[in-house]
Amino acid sequence: MTIKIAILGLGTVGQGVYETLLSHDQYISEKLGTDTELVGVLVNDSLKQRNLPNHIPITTNYHDILSKDVDVIIEATVGDHPAFEYLSQAIQKGIHVITANKAMFARYGKQLIEKATENQVHIGYEATTASGTPILRTLKQLLQVNQIEKMEAILNGTSNYILTEMTMNHTTFEEALVQAQEKGFAEANPSNDVDGNDAFYKSMILSQLVYDLQPNWEDVYREGIGEISNEQIQHAAQRGQKIKHIATVEMRNGEVAASIQPMQIDDEHPLYSVDGVNNGITVHTDLLGTFTLTGPGAGKLPTASAIIEDLVYVFHKEIKLEKQYIY
Ligand code: NDP
Ligand code: HSE
Repeated sequence: MTIKIAILGLGTVGQGVYETLLSHDQYISEKLGTDTELVGVLVNDSLKQRNLPNHIPITTNYHDILSKDVDVIIEATVGDHPAFEYLSQAIQKGIHVITANKAMFARYGKQLIEKATENQVHIGYEATTASGTPILRTLKQLLQVNQIEKMEAILNGTSNYILTEMTMNHTTFEEALVQAQEKGFAEANPSNDVDGNDAFYKSMILSQLVYDLQPNWEDVYREGIGEISNEQIQHAAQRGQKIKHIATVEMRNGEVAASIQPMQIDDEHPLYSVDGVNNGITVHTDLLGTFTLTGPGAGKLPTASAIIEDLVYVFHKEIKLEKQYIY
């Protein structure tokens, strides 16, 4: 049996997935005990030049994808719609799905997980939060008894890259943003990165995963990094502090509270040395105490890493073990 894969979206992430399927083909096949085949790619603009061999069919019509014999759909498009409808239809047809689309998943993830469970398919979403740094599975599968009291996290690679460049190299906000776009860290519309929305979506995914609920979105204080000047950053540096964009999610009296905002922190804070495009999460638990996970938070290959790991996990379980769900 060959595992047949379709990719929705061939931008930074979709292209990274394609390249990783090629570069790591042997390892993936060995892990799965079978080959994989990319049977179709969905894009928006049929006229764009693509870096894909001719034998891989590209379409702008989702029905072309669904009408194929597909085992798993990897979704790397932008925004809530039609991504949600695409994944719902795939799940309904018994196709496993893996997504990187955090805006869509923050809003519709719970619904999609329920649908996946009903239809006995897997849903992988590690790539939605902190790119390839394996935060979600660590929290979900390796902490079964610990109560998570609070999470503090740097969740937007673009914002952290910009703040780091402004701190270390005195780069202007605008120049650093252009660099983040060139490196494939920023979204097509980078306002989601710099105004705090992207970190907000990831916080909501973490909240849903850890507490099985989200705060009212309107109650979450959201502030981006657009107003921070080089002078403020240098003043903080003179006091031994850095300005970091930090999301906080915590359980307070049975309710989840969250905020996303720039904060000045000193070198005793575990997130102080999380620089560049890296993300980090400091988790406060009742048994283990406090620990921090850090790693790349955006970019083509780190994000493809999360997706490919999900892919192997889905089919490793599917093929070698009894059926069970990722999340
Ligand atoms: P890009 O803007 O580079 O690529 C988006 C791709 O989606 C394009 O190929 C575009 O088609 C396609 N697309 C958009 N809308 C549709 C649609 N309605 N139907 C079919 N195809 C569509 O984005 P990224 O690759 O950077 O990001 C993809 C997703 O992954 C986003 O949800 C993002 O938030 C998330 N993500 C991104 C990370 C990163 O580091 N870049 C990291 C983790 C998650 P076309 O090429 O024709 O324009
Ligand atoms: N634009 C996002 C970021 C991509 O910069 O963090 C990773 O989700």
